[in-house]
Amino acid sequence: MNQQWIIVYLLLVACTHLSHQKSTPDSSTYIAAVVEYPPIYSTNSSETLRINSDAYVELIKNASLHNTDIIVFPEDGLTTIQLPEREKMGEWTTIIPSASANYIPCSQNTIEVSKTLKKISCAARDNNIYVVINIAEKAPCYDVPCPRDKVFYYNSNVVFDRTGKIIARYRKTNLFKEYQFNVTTIPEVVSFDTDFGVKFGTFICFDILFHEPAIELTRNHQVTDFVYSTAWFSEVPFLTAVQTQMGWSFAENVNLLASGYNKPSFGNAGSGIYLGRRGIGKAIMPTATHKELLIFEVSKIKKETKYNNNNYHSMDSSTNQTKVIPFHHGTNQHILLKHDSFEAYQTFSLKGNAIETVCQNGFCCDFKVEIAKVDPNTKYRLVVFNGDRFYGDVKAGIRTCSIIQCLNDSVSSCGSVQESETIFSNIEITATFHNYKNNLIMPSTLNPDLLPLKNWTFLDHTHNDHIHVNMFSNMHTNNLVTFGIYSRNFNKNNANRISFCIVNYFIILLLTLLLSKL
Ligand SMILES: *[C@@H]1O[C@H](CO)[C@@H](O)[C@H](O)[C@H]1NC(C)=O
Ligand SMILES: *[C@@H]1O[C@H](CO)[C@@H](O)[C@H](O)[C@H]1NC(C)=O
Ligand SMILES: *[C@@H]1O[C@H](CO)[C@@H](O)[C@H](O)[C@H]1NC(C)=O
Ligand SMILES: *[C@@H]1O[C@H](CO)[C@@H](O)[C@H](O)[C@H]1NC(C)=O
Ligand SMILES: *[C@@H]1O[C@H](CO)[C@@H](O)[C@H](O)[C@H]1NC(C)=O
Ligand SMILES: *[C@@H]1O[C@H](CO)[C@@H](O)[C@H](O)[C@H]1NC(C)=O
Repeated sequence: MNQQWIIVYLLLVACTHLSHQKSTPDSSTYIAAVVEYPPIYSTNSSETLRINSDAYVELIKNASLHNTDIIVFPEDGLTTIQLPEREKMGEWTTIIPSASANYIPCSQNTIEVSKTLKKISCAARDNNIYVVINIAEKAPCYDVPCPRDKVFYYNSNVVFDRTGKIIARYRKTNLFKEYQFNVTTIPEVVSFDTDFGVKFGTFICFDILFHEPAIELTRNHQVTDFVYSTAWFSEVPFLTAVQTQMGWSFAENVNLLASGYNKPSFGNAGSGIYLGRRGIGKAIMPTATHKELLIFEVSKIKKETKYNNNNYHSMDSSTNQTKVIPFHHGTNQHILLKHDSFEAYQTFSLKGNAIETVCQNGFCCDFKVEIAKVDPNTKYRLVVFNGDRFYGDVKAGIRTCSIIQCLNDSVSSCGSVQESETIFSNIEITATFHNYKNNLIMPSTLNPDLLPLKNWTFLDHTHNDHIHVNMFSNMHTNNLVTFGIYSRNFNKNNANRISFCIVNYFIILLLTLLLSKL
């Protein structure tokens, strides 16, 4: 070939590489990207928003070079979580037009949105890609009762289509101690359609542990794919980030694209692309400051196959392609972890092989454990809980059956995260959940890298008035931190709210009666 032809050839190669191959409604897969992102903070709001949104634009470009159809960014990734008190929120926030406005911030000027929102809209448009961000929203308040400053602040997800148009906006329902923000009086249940034939639901961080809107979307709206932004504070042994994301996606058998805020020294890390009962596409749990774009080709879920089948059953969750960034003990790589307390748990100290039934408040778990080798430096306990706990200031119903790691024989040493040479050759846990309709029942497993264990099976069989769960592993498993079932019982906190409303209702009724007598 002469030189000219070589140049033409190179140009052609470059063009094919750059031209965007979009997935279509007929394709059986789509390409998803999630970002593990460590935001930069400066006390100057416009500097913070500028630096982080510039980084987003670079990541959007990178993703589109890999033919990504949709990219997800984390909660608070543009502002950081270091938001000021409510009075100073103005400059950190933006107006966000609702989806019904059909507004393209990049090319329209009739609504006064922030520079940041415009910039991301333009990046979506320039790169022909769906973009999901989380950003602090301000919404003028016109109706009574308004706050004194006549403005609501929301923690919101925004979705842009390939033209940069806002096609969805979701305001977080379950705030976690974020006192600057408001919540909507009726929880929003938000989903959006794409040109590749997938409908997505969206929710934020703490929402993953509640019925509204997440379970509402999977069970009542039959949504099969989710975009999820988070700034999670990992808690051992049941609620570290990837463990929880994987457990939720598995329990509901839906695809979950989870993007995590990265600041391990505060406890924030963990992102992944999860494929329901087909396991993990990719996931990372970095314990040092880390930026990464995770891209994965996701198989679409056919609704017929998912819903024709009342019993979700047998699935092997052998986690494929999981990328592991090792957890280094005692070095400058360090992730801050919260610890659950086991004082209120029913526990049983494992000394060797065991067949045990452990119960609490009428909820029983059957354990069968065989141990092939004992490492004297770690201990294990069977633990069962049925009751309420507080997440921050929110009360929540929990039922769990699990094997967890401890440092020594005292219960207070449980929830440790150590490498362990103890080898479990067989573990089987079974439990029956009555009153199950309003429950989220997740597998919960963890190793010292803060990633899920491999090679276990979780079977759930639905009967008339209960659900029977059987979780087992007969592979030789070492480095066990957590192995069990973790469930949220939504009936409990609903019950509290209902009784509260009923009490109010009767008081009002009584007052009305009294007044009418006067
Ligand atoms: C913040 O930074 C912007 C430039 O990005 C500058 O114009 C502005 O004056 C700064 N504000 C303060 C309070 O320093
Ligand atoms: C984005 O792409 C550029 C060029 O390929 C690369 O140098 C950079 O590391 C990428 N950034 C991320 C976060 O992937
Ligand atoms: C909105 O949030 C502010 C600050 O937390 C609070 O004072 C106000 O009552 C909230 N308004 C509503 C309607 O929830
Ligand atoms: C696991 O990964 C291999 C290699 O990438 C692939 O061939 C196989 O289909 C994957 N299995 C599942 C269950 O996704
Ligand atoms: C068990 O471990 C905990 C935590 O390391 C420690 O504080 C406690 O003293 C230990 N107890 C015993 C009995 O060794
Ligand atoms: C999981 O099981 C597969 C086959 O069943 C095996 O090849 C693989 O080594 C196992 N992985 C682990 C971590 O035990």
